[in-house]
Amino acid sequence: MLSLIGSALGREPLSRVTLVFGNRNAESIMFLEELEDLKNRYPARFHLVTVLSREEQDAELFSGRLDADRIRRILEVVIPPATVDEWYLCGPLGMVEAAQEVLAEVGADAAHVHHEIFHAEDSGPSVVVDTSAPPEAVVTVTLDGRRTVVEMPTKAESILAATLRARPDAPYSCTGGMCGTCRARVVDGEVTMTKNYALEPDEIAKGIVLACQAHPVTDRVTLDYDA
Ligand code: FES
Repeated sequence: MLSLIGSALGREPLSRVTLVFGNRNAESIMFLEELEDLKNRYPARFHLVTVLSREEQDAELFSGRLDADRIRRILEVVIPPATVDEWYLCGPLGMVEAAQEVLAEVGADAAHVHHEIFHAEDSGPSVVVDTSAPPEAVVTVTLDGRRTVVEMPTKAESILAATLRARPDAPYSCTGGMCGTCRARVVDGEVTMTKNYALEPDEIAKGIVLACQAHPVTDRVTLDYDA
């Protein structure tokens, strides 16, 4: 988020950025020096709104958790939604969902609401796989130009987990549907996703899925990581 802000302010002389930044207290504010630097370089175009969950500030509005009610009130007072071209949400799942809910209420176009989640509470149950069992599904993956056929003893495991047995070079990071590192395109067959915090609706419409959250629906699926 910090690098996006710096790039936008540096490259687009007419851009304006308001950062609503939630922290516990003044001492724990992350990247304070970098933010102060941005304020000094772009005093008329960068507005920092600090919300502290465990420290009283002069205004009650900025003291407490960044929940839906507080976000709603901050928009009313500080950021008229009609003046915003792009929204960027970054934080724990609950806060991002609260912000999405409020932005939907005020009529923000979902195509202009971007998000990144850095913590989700539930990583889901782990699945025990008997690799000697006959396959319930067969997945063909193309990765770095090489096709590999992966047998899945159970559709309950993720396509990523099955793929890693045959292709340890398959990309992934969070395995929780958040980072988007494992994205691939379904070119044949059908899959379902358990969770998705990373893909936008237009990407899903193009057949992009998160392999760490994808399970085969059809017995044969073809995924292309290179597409
Ligand atoms: S590995 Fe992060 S979304 Fe799949």
